[in-house]
Amino acid sequence: MIKTVNKAVFYSGRTLKALEARSSNFRITQNQSSLRMKKNTSKASQQVVLWIAANAGGVGKTTLGIHTGYRLAQLGFNVLFIDLDTNGSLARFCGLQPDLEPVNTSASLFDRNFSGDYPIYTPEWSTAKGKFDVCLGGDVMLSVALDLPTRTGRELVLKRAFKKYPLPYDLVILDSPASLDVLSYTALAVATHILIPLPMSIKLSGIDFLLQWIRAESEALDLDPMPTLLGGVPMRVATNSDQQAFYAEIDSVLASQNISCFPGIRYSAEFENAANRGRAPLYVYRPRNPACKDFEPIIKPLQKTLTA
Ligand SMILES: Nc1ncnc2c1ncn2[C@@H]1O[C@H](COP(=O)(O)OP(=O)(O)OP(=O)(O)O)[C@@H](O)[C@H]1O
Ligand SMILES: [Mg+2]
Repeated sequence: MIKTVNKAVFYSGRTLKALEARSSNFRITQNQSSLRMKKNTSKASQQVVLWIAANAGGVGKTTLGIHTGYRLAQLGFNVLFIDLDTNGSLARFCGLQPDLEPVNTSASLFDRNFSGDYPIYTPEWSTAKGKFDVCLGGDVMLSVALDLPTRTGRELVLKRAFKKYPLPYDLVILDSPASLDVLSYTALAVATHILIPLPMSIKLSGIDFLLQWIRAESEALDLDPMPTLLGGVPMRVATNSDQQAFYAEIDSVLASQNISCFPGIRYSAEFENAANRGRAPLYVYRPRNPACKDFEPIIKPLQKTLTA
């Protein structure tokens, strides 16, 4: 059954009724079984699960994840961005309806009866060569965070879902809350790679704790191999002299922790404008903005890993 409206493409037979009942914004094109059977047009030789990790709010996790993912989709890779955060910002950044029933969000992946029915949306601006799809988070993730601690093997719930019901995507990006709660454990357990957005402020001092946490918990979860720490990405780098002095120090802070530092993403008010208009990637909103180029140093190693 196909319902045509104006915002997105949604793949889930099970949620069709719920969406119809809500005078939905979504175009439903196919059910889950056809999603699984979709011809594999992948350019990648291996799947990468990239966790955008941070222990401070507002540092640019979602912005970094969306730009990294969308650029790789432009290059022909199929990308799924899964929002595990409670704040629902991915929906706003993508111009999608944020207050969905749990079954239509990433919460469903944690349902004890999850049967591989991934609730996947495509933002209307997603015209990249590869797919750029999303699973939305939001406040429903709060109940997941409350329920998970009571479950045996809680840290591995997402990993088991991905193993049992493989996602037909080259790159899966995970965006979790900054609180390093149980949802972060589920992201860590399934991640193959980790990228860390860095604040250009005193909050950077938390980086030591985050790195220790990642290393200690990877060991505790017996992750073998451990996820690869791609490095830190200074976000919102402004041109004033204080910020530039701070920026110059970040490299050595990370070097002392044995991780590399990517060149920063410059400050531009257009990031916020793009997000507020539901067209978050500058590649879509302002393709000629010079900040688009700032992501290239991150894209290259990921592209190499995907095609290795
Ligand atoms: N380089 C940048 N220049 C200017 N503004 C930026 C930049 N990167 C991100 N922003 C803006 O900063 C705000 C916070 O970014 P974002 O939502 O990506 O952070 P977050 O870590 O995901 O936050 P949260 O913890 O709330 O999920 C957003 O309004 C975003 O548009
Ligand atoms: Mg966010």
